[in-house]
Amino acid sequence: MAILKIVYYGDPILRKKGKNVSSFDPSLAQLAKDMIETMYEAEGIGLAAQQIGKALQFCVIDLREAEAEFTYTFDGSTPPMDLIMPLVMINPTITTTPEPVTIYEEGCLSFPGIRGEIIRPDAIQVNFQDIDGNPHQISCNGLLARCIMHEVDHLNGMLFIDRMEKNVLVPIEREIKQLRKKTRKKE
Ligand code: NI
Repeated sequence: MAILKIVYYGDPILRKKGKNVSSFDPSLAQLAKDMIETMYEAEGIGLAAQQIGKALQFCVIDLREAEAEFTYTFDGSTPPMDLIMPLVMINPTITTTPEPVTIYEEGCLSFPGIRGEIIRPDAIQVNFQDIDGNPHQISCNGLLARCIMHEVDHLNGMLFIDRMEKNVLVPIEREIKQLRKKTRKKE
């Protein structure tokens, strides 16, 4: 297993839409293991392929350490969280219900130290494939729904700052620009 390098805002890969995954081979399984390890090491609850430098429809999520309430069904039933997490989500597509919405302060491993409140729908349904290519469906709300929406945004080249209201974005704009500058200098 390997800890991968997480890329920061300013790296152009974060703006790339991920390619659909069509080959469910051992190298994909290895990527999943490495991304899960990298997410744990960084103490994150989700990590998208773009964040480790690959533009793929591929992300990992684990909410077992997060103190949050949410409900979910996985393929129509509610198995214990240990059976479905860490969650490897491949080629996900989300259906949201526009109402109700919730406000929650989000962070992102590609934006160290930067947080901001974002309004998102509370409940979603997501269709995706697992590491063997098998299709699944999750219906959920709360932090699980929010985390999936944040990660799936990454897979489409969208970042949480794009979803912040102006009054949230303005106070942290300087920090964001500094991060971008620092990242670009390193390249
Ligand atoms: Ni993120």
